Amino acid sequence: MLSNEEIQDIDHEAAKLPYKQAAVIEALKIVQQRRGWINDESVRDIAECLEMSPAEVDSVATFYNLIFRKPVGRHVILLCDSISCYVMGYKNIYEALQQKLKIKFGETTADHRFTLLPNACLGCCDHAPALMINGNLYKDISIEALDSILSEYN
Ligand code: FES
Repeated sequence: MLSNEEIQDIDHEAAKLPYKQAAVIEALKIVQQRRGWINDESVRDIAECLEMSPAEVDSVATFYNLIFRKPVGRHVILLCDSISCYVMGYKNIYEALQQKLKIKFGETTADHRFTLLPNACLGCCDHAPALMINGNLYKDISIEALDSILSEYN
């Protein structure tokens, strides 16, 4: 069940748009911000709130890669695997992250600290390789810099 605060925030976003269904991404973000991820019940609740079918909401949620349909760790690492980063050493960074965190893409560390996900271009190809954690962008990253970056997140 959505909280009153969540419903208010979704209504607020929907009021800015020509029709309420257009607020579906914002609604998913609002709920995810408070709950960490979007479960099936939240999909149904958002659908009801926006007068959509659960399948319609789910199709948006699964298409948009920053909406999580499974539980994630406290911090989500998005490692860019697009062409510039690939050329500039993405594979080495991925291998180093796998070793340090003991997880692969799509997995969460045992202590729920990090989830590691691949991501398409983060928009800073001239500073590849790049990754993002909780919305914070890290450019020109090296294996040597990873410990310092990860230590910012507990
Ligand atoms: S390809 Fe990685 S930031 Fe563009």
